[in-house]
Amino acid sequence: MQRVLVVGSGGREHALALALSRDAAVSEVHVAPGNPGTAAVATNHPVDLLDGPAVAALAVRLAVDLVVIGPEAPLVAGVADVVRAAGVACFGPSAAAAQLEGSKAFAKDVMAAAGVPTARAHVCTTAAEVAAALEDFGPPYVVKDDGLAAGKGVVVTHDRDEAVAHAAGCDQVVVEEFLDGPEVSLFAVTDGRCVRALQPAQDFKRVGDSDAGPNTGGMGAYTPLPWAPLDLVADVTATVLQPTVDELARRGTPFAGLLYAGLALTGRGVRVIEFNARFGDPETQALLARLQTPLAGLLHAAATGTLAGHPELTWSSDAAVAVVLAAGGYPGTPRSGDVISGLDDEVAGTAVIQAGTATDTEGRVVSAGGRVLAVVGTGADLTAAREAAYERLGGLHLASSFYRTDIAASAAAAERS
Ligand code: AMP
Ligand code: GLY
Repeated sequence: MQRVLVVGSGGREHALALALSRDAAVSEVHVAPGNPGTAAVATNHPVDLLDGPAVAALAVRLAVDLVVIGPEAPLVAGVADVVRAAGVACFGPSAAAAQLEGSKAFAKDVMAAAGVPTARAHVCTTAAEVAAALEDFGPPYVVKDDGLAAGKGVVVTHDRDEAVAHAAGCDQVVVEEFLDGPEVSLFAVTDGRCVRALQPAQDFKRVGDSDAGPNTGGMGAYTPLPWAPLDLVADVTATVLQPTVDELARRGTPFAGLLYAGLALTGRGVRVIEFNARFGDPETQALLARLQTPLAGLLHAAATGTLAGHPELTWSSDAAVAVVLAAGGYPGTPRSGDVISGLDDEVAGTAVIQAGTATDTEGRVVSAGGRVLAVVGTGADLTAAREAAYERLGGLHLASSFYRTDIAASAAAAERS
């Protein structure tokens, strides 16, 4: 394993490129298209990440040994299929398997077939079906756009009119039962047969402190989860991850890549809220700060059907906390083009992972997206990791930006009490 190409331009891709650049087995890291953060640890290449033939041609030209596709959109568009057809090992599921994320109705069907516990749901295409489904489950109402919506297609509300209005704006929706309980993001690397779960993380989806305001792509994350049941990973591997991987293999569309289970730990047991077909953002920024297993070999094993022979994953005992700095206006239309200062003011135990950034004509790093960057802090426990992350954030300046101040706060307080 020598050369790796990461496809994407967000924080997840910066975190992947950084981890790959630290892997002694990797000689070159390339990112397409990348961002100013990835340019510091890899070589960026302009490419339309939805253009499979262009991505495959770049991989062949660079003679990479592995392509890692970061975001869901190219996976759902079949870019991994095109790369593999060009003879290059690719970490990321086929278009057929990525439907697990691309269509919530498809995911529900797979879960039903595999016996995976999830919220009861109705797939609706007409207003009458929506009304009947809302009636069936009662408030709080959960209405999900069936297709990809960058984390913003879900409305959870007590307001029936809001639920109806959201459904009216979508072609097909999934209306489902409300799941009560803490949420956990559990990721597994899989080659389509063998499943290797990572450690659990928790994501903060709502834009404001104390979970106020609308859903976002994720405002922060931390790992490990000191409050989670000790058998959570083994339990979810046995009841969710392996059965789902087995069901997709049985259908002739094996899922090889990163299977992301968004879980609710309800009073009645673990339930799947959603599946994603790629690393979560910003959970990945926190998780990769703790993963000691060299990343390239792990992803290459998953891409080449050899995961069963790969050693167990090893983790730092440190905690990691990622806090997102968002541009004013997010998750609506974010303000962009403002200079970010303080990026070079390092704080021990921290890293700045860039996401929605660009370089202006004077070479300065400016905001260019809703989630601009994440600061990852590591430390002996969550309190120490939080302190490091927030200290570094305090030294960053971006006009009108904001961040949540409570990422990992209650878990950190519980850990030390
Ligand atoms: P999703 O895109 O399906 O992950 O949904 C985004 C967020 O909406 C989740 O992380 C939850 O916070 C919330 N959510 C989704 N489905 C449910 C549900 N059935 N019950 C409660 N909250 C939900
Ligand atoms: N952090 C949630 C996601 O990546 O979908």
